[in-house]
Amino acid sequence: MLPNPILFGKPLNIWLGLLALILLILQILIGRRIIKVPFSYHTNIVWKILLAVVLLHAYYGFEIYFLQ
Ligand code: HEM
Repeated sequence: MLPNPILFGKPLNIWLGLLALILLILQILIGRRIIKVPFSYHTNIVWKILLAVVLLHAYYGFEIYFLQ
C-alpha cells in the first residue's frame, strides 16, 4: 500500500492522472512534429516517463477501488 497524500487540496493520484494526460499530449505533439524539440525526446525519454507515471497512476486507482 503506497501513501496517497493530499497535495494542493487533491490526492496525489489525481495529479498523476493529469500529468499522464499532459505527457500523452506532449508525446503526440512531438511524434507529429508539431512542437520543435529533438525527435529523440519521443523515442528515448518522454514515453518512459509517461509509462512510469501511467503505471503508478493505475496502481493507485486499483488500490483505491479494490483494496479499500
Ligand atoms: C504513448 C506512447 C506514444 C504515442 C502516443 C506516440 C505517438 C506518435 C505519433 C502520433 C506519431 C506520429 C505519426 C505520424 O506522424 O504519422 C509518432 C511517430 C513515431 N513514433 Fe511514437 N508514440 C508513442 C511511443 C513511441 C515509442 C515508445 C517509440 C519508440 C521508442 C516511438 C517511435 C516513433 C517513431 C520512430 C515515429 C516516427 C514515425 C515516422 O514518422 O516515420 N513512439 N508517435
